[in-house]
Amino acid sequence: MKKVAIIGAGNVGGTTAMRIAETGLACVVLIDVAENVARAKAFDLEDARYSLGRDTRVEGSSEISRISGSDIVVMTAGLPRKPGMTREDLLAKNASIMKDVCSGIAQYAKDAILIVVSNPLDVMTYLAYKTTGFERHKVLGMGVNLDTSRFANLISKKLFIGTEHIKALVIGSHGETMLPLPRLTKVRGKALIDLLEKKEVERLVIDTRARGAEIVSLYGSGSAYMAPSAAIYELVETILTGHSKELPVSAVLDGEYGLYDVSIGVPAIIGPEGIERILEADLTSEEKEAFLQSAQSIKNSINSLNIWPLEEHGL
Ligand code: NAI
Ligand code: 2OP
Repeated sequence: MKKVAIIGAGNVGGTTAMRIAETGLACVVLIDVAENVARAKAFDLEDARYSLGRDTRVEGSSEISRISGSDIVVMTAGLPRKPGMTREDLLAKNASIMKDVCSGIAQYAKDAILIVVSNPLDVMTYLAYKTTGFERHKVLGMGVNLDTSRFANLISKKLFIGTEHIKALVIGSHGETMLPLPRLTKVRGKALIDLLEKKEVERLVIDTRARGAEIVSLYGSGSAYMAPSAAIYELVETILTGHSKELPVSAVLDGEYGLYDVSIGVPAIIGPEGIERILEADLTSEEKEAFLQSAQSIKNSINSLNIWPLEEHGL
């Protein structure tokens, strides 16, 4: 059976484990510095096996070595946002956790595909790529597929139409500069910009960008985890079942869109090897400009981490 390791047994990690356990897609190992939480969630999930008729194994531990043999590692360890915080506010703390955990991933699961979830997502994805030394197609960040799902949901509710008739697209950072693309978003094959007034489209874009913060503010503590775990599950399922699929992910670019040394949300073909191909969206000059600005904001955060001096010290 396939094995998925989930680092961080909090809201996102625990719910992702539940989705995988319930479908029997893979056995799961949950790793958390809070060992009791990881073990409790594993017991709780396994206790559901009889009721659900699924014999999926779930293990909880604080020992990173337990990820050995994993096909996929999902990195959700880190702090979530508090009301009023941006994803970027989490930068320094989560970067330190990411570097620590990634050295364990490189040691114990060097053949795995790594899905990064911790925020700020694009910076953490790049940091994971640099710290693990994995090939870039094996490191992907889950962010814009969640944003795309949120965009599609809001469009669906605005137009009273099922999400199955919507092909939405959001690219750029999973942050303040994310770029929902109404011109390239289709509803029953028609561009969204031809179906709604300009102001209505702008409202949908603003609401999509603000959705994560809206949920943080409503919860009062912690951030979204139901839709995030569904978006992670979609990636895990696509990789493990071997049916390649177009999904937007944060990918490390090496010349695509004229960019290097940055991880940013782009449409891609995802398959058993991770990112099979990065797709270049056909952007107008205005959209391209916004995308480049988004990339620059991610690069600024990457540079503020001083990755290069760290690299000289062997990290
Ligand atoms: P949470 O607080 O519920 O869980 C985080 C867990 O990480 C905690 O159980 C904590 O003990 C654990 N942890 C901390 N340091 C660790 C380490 N060194 N090794 C192992 N475990 C460690 O937070 P939640 O809601 O699960 O969110 C996790 C992360 O995912 C946050 O950074 C959040 O911002 C991010 N996130 C990203 C999304 C995306 O679309 N990319 C969506 C939702 C959350
Ligand atoms: C979200 O978008 C916090 O990144 C997380 O809900």
